[in-house]
This record gives sequence, C-alpha cells and structure tokens, in this order.
Amino acid sequence: MKLQRFEVESYMTLHENNCRYNLADTVAKSLTLKELLAYDKKDSLEDLMNLSLDYGAIEGSHELKKGILSLYQSGDDEEIAICHGGVNANELVLMTLLSTNDHILSFLPTYQQLYSFPESLGVEVDFIHLKEENEWKIDFEELEKNIRENTKMICLNLPNNPTGTTLDHEEMQQLIQICKKHDLYVLVDEIYRGLYQEESISDLYEKGIATSGLSKVLSTPGLRIGWIKTKDKELIRLINERRDYSIISSGPINDYLGALTLKYSK
Ligand SMILES: Cc1ncc(COP(=O)(O)O)c(C=O)c1O
Repeated sequence: MKLQRFEVESYMTLHENNCRYNLADTVAKSLTLKELLAYDKKDSLEDLMNLSLDYGAIEGSHELKKGILSLYQSGDDEEIAICHGGVNANELVLMTLLSTNDHILSFLPTYQQLYSFPESLGVEVDFIHLKEENEWKIDFEELEKNIRENTKMICLNLPNNPTGTTLDHEEMQQLIQICKKHDLYVLVDEIYRGLYQEESISDLYEKGIATSGLSKVLSTPGLRIGWIKTKDKELIRLINERRDYSIISSGPINDYLGALTLKYSK
C-alpha cells in the first residue's frame, strides 16, 4: 500500500536546521550533553567513557525502565518496550496490532502518522473532526456512532498536536467506557504528556497503549529514546519480537543517557 508523504516531517527536514528563528518546533530547548551530565554528582562522564559499545541491554536496561515507570502510577519492566523515539513506538504498535480490513478511528487534525501509517497497512480509517467551535474537544457521541463491526482501535494524541486537546478524568473514563463496551484497543500518543495531560491510558485500561519518549517535555530528542507502555504484557512481548527486525536495541549510550535524563526529570 502507498505511504503518504509525512507533510510536517518533510517540511521540518527542509527548514528546521536552516532558518534564523524556528517557531515551528515542538521541543523545549534541548539539553546539551554537558548540561545533562552536570545534573549528576558522580562522574558520569567516566561511566560513559567506559561503556562497552556493544548492543547494550537489548530490551532496555532496568535503570531506563525504572526511570520511565516513575512517570506512571503503575507498571513493571515487562509492561514497557523501548523504541527509537515516539515515532517508532507508534509504528510498532500499529504494525503489531493492525492488518488489512481492520477499521480504526483517528482524529483530525492530528499527527499524520496516526492515520497515514495505518492506511498504508490497508486499514480503513474514519476520522472524528476536532472543531474550534467545540473548543477542539472530542465528541464522544460521534466517536461511538462511527464504531463498526471491524473497528479494532481508536488512535489519538493527548495533548493533541496541533489542537492541544486533553482529556480530564471524567472524559478519560468516557473514552474507556466506549472502548470497553466495544472491546477496542486505544493507542494514545502521550509524547506531550506532562504538559497539561496528567493521566495515562496505560494506568487505566487493560487494552490501553501509551506511547511516549524523551523528545518533547524532557528536552532530549537527540537520544531517540521512546517507549510503549501497556498492561498487556503479551503485546509487549510481540512488539519486542517485531523490534528485533528493526532497531534491535537503542544502544548503550542512548540507554545510559536516557536513564540519566529521567533520573533528574523531577
Ligand atoms: C504527536 C507526536 N508523536 C510523535 C512524535 C515523534 O516523536 P519522537 O521525536 O520521539 O520520535 C512527534 C514529533 O513531533 C509528535 O508531535
């Protein structure tokens, strides 16, 4: 199936390192390596210099996963898969769970990956439109009306890029009730969580899958550390199997620095 050009990423590739003022970025000013290491009292530079440049912990180190879990209310190491940024986390979830003739509901406007990538897998996508006159809020009635026999998943981004849509506790429960009633997975790209959106779907719903990473509110996109978190351990196992075909591991340097970023993120 044809994969549509990822418009915003193509635009950023052309211009983001090539302009005087970048007003289009979605990342808080990135840390330098020096700034990150300065948070640590012990000599992390020495640790870094002594790292063996092998593949590192294939499924991510315990230290890294411990840091990730500190951002959630629940979970253990087996509920996390480490990925190459949030973008790879979304890709792995979508590829693992969806196939031709499945149907999903996505939102417009949102991050294009959450609909163009499933479309490229032969998945039927219907859109729920977020509207300014409705303060960009999700219309749950419309959402439920669009669920079909073959609907497998709802895909959303909270806070949503670009509308800023979030869900408060009550709205999150409304979403979960709909998903439970129709036995649906819900993929929530939570890469901007921490910026207004507090709750994570992965703490609240058995078939809730959260993707996130260090790129946005944690200011270290260059580490390319992302993750998937869900209570569904079998899904994590399947995702790790699939990841063996793509990134294998995140590498020991990124893993080490990722754990350090999370250790000092509070
Ligand atoms: C909603 C959303 N998800 C995922 C990503 C990609 O994140 P990462 O840089 O961690 O791959 C972005 C980047 O702009 C984004 O806006």
